[in-house]
Amino acid sequence: MKLTPSPSARRSRLRRTLAATATLVVVAGVVAYATTGANAATPPVTPLAEAHVANPYSGASVYVNPDWAAKANAESGGSRIANQPTGIWLDSIAAITAPSGSGYTTSLRQHLDNALAKGSKLIQFVIYDLPGRDCAALASNGELGPTDIGRYRTEYIDPIAAVQADTKYGNIRIVNVIEIDSLPNLITNADSQDGATEACRTMKANGNYVTGVQYALSKLHAAGTNVYNYIDAAHHGWLGWDSNFTPAATLFASTAQGATGGYATVDGFITNTANYSALTEPYLKISSSVGGTSVRQSKWVDWNQYVDELTYTQAFRTQLISAGFPSGIGMLIDTSRNGWGGSARPTAASTSTDLNTWVNQSRVDRRIHAGNWCNQSGAGLGERPKAAPATGIDAYVWMKPPGESDGSSSLIPTGPSNPGGKGFDQMCDPSYGGNPRNGNNASGALANSPVSGAWFSAQFQELMRNAYPAL
Ligand code: BGC
Repeated sequence: MKLTPSPSARRSRLRRTLAATATLVVVAGVVAYATTGANAATPPVTPLAEAHVANPYSGASVYVNPDWAAKANAESGGSRIANQPTGIWLDSIAAITAPSGSGYTTSLRQHLDNALAKGSKLIQFVIYDLPGRDCAALASNGELGPTDIGRYRTEYIDPIAAVQADTKYGNIRIVNVIEIDSLPNLITNADSQDGATEACRTMKANGNYVTGVQYALSKLHAAGTNVYNYIDAAHHGWLGWDSNFTPAATLFASTAQGATGGYATVDGFITNTANYSALTEPYLKISSSVGGTSVRQSKWVDWNQYVDELTYTQAFRTQLISAGFPSGIGMLIDTSRNGWGGSARPTAASTSTDLNTWVNQSRVDRRIHAGNWCNQSGAGLGERPKAAPATGIDAYVWMKPPGESDGSSSLIPTGPSNPGGKGFDQMCDPSYGGNPRNGNNASGALANSPVSGAWFSAQFQELMRNAYPAL
């Protein structure tokens, strides 16, 4: 069950949309055209936008991005997955209209028109252009400076909301994933913790992450009853510790309360976006122990309360509801690259009596450290996109398009291989020894990667090879 606007809220929204074109009579929750004057013979109302549903993914065919599908199809073996729906990242102002020479091929409106033409029921966008974006890393820093909140509103969110509000698209469920990494960075990287950055402190101090997310929630929610907002809730290896978990839910709640429309602007949350955390650890449980010592004391788990995304996501949903969100919120999990199959995948729990050895041999997530996030070596495609796969989960989705890089493994100057002037983060360099945010471990990144968002054929091939479930 998901939040559904009360009949009166739904009516008032319909009223707002229809007011310009018709006179409305509202009787006992039923909206009808007035049977007077020129409108006397008007047939029964066709709603301009589909009413909000509990889980938008239920029974919905999800739009396949033709640009991503073409790249996947061009890869040997890629046709096996090219028909999967992936997220469309509106990662700059130019992505909205895709002007010629911008490097974008399909505008927001063209994607929606394609969806109409193909009869897709649901389409997924990632809203990703906050002022001072990606404050704890460098590979996805955005075009807007820390104080550019005015431009974020008028040049980014307003035009997106205007297109999404077009009643022509009223029968398509439009999912917006709101601003990856932003609010989580305010929890863990903006104070005096090890690994905190000046850029994140700035964004906490000036409030523009919170203000921007509130503006996005307000405007996109108001775009229509067919529009659904999901806020990014990081992943278990980020917010799974007690010291982060509860404060994050509290921040999400106060942020939503400050949006116009409050909690109703939020349909749910997404976890693991563009990350690699395993969906389920079949042999390692948080309750496991080795010789009487809890796995929470191992280097890998390091006192976290969760070892995988499904347990984290379900528990975080409960926490969000305690923090004030309606009990109908639903969760999404990005399973695009968290499969961890292939020959290195363990097939049983370890028999070692050493705690760290046991954990390392039993876990399917083969990363060096759970804080590693860039082009992880050994990863595979995860669960295929699927509606309502588990309690509280609206869908498994592929929000990060497999094959698109997380960042370049060395600095690539602005030029033909880096037209957008993307930054370089050492976490994408396989020879980097790490920082406090990954426990000063090696980055575990693949070599020879292009800038974030660019096609990375070698990674795409490895993801297919290590898919779990296998292709
Ligand atoms: C990049 C975006 C890209 C997205 C999807 C992000 O890391 O910053 O430019 O669209 O990944 O691949």
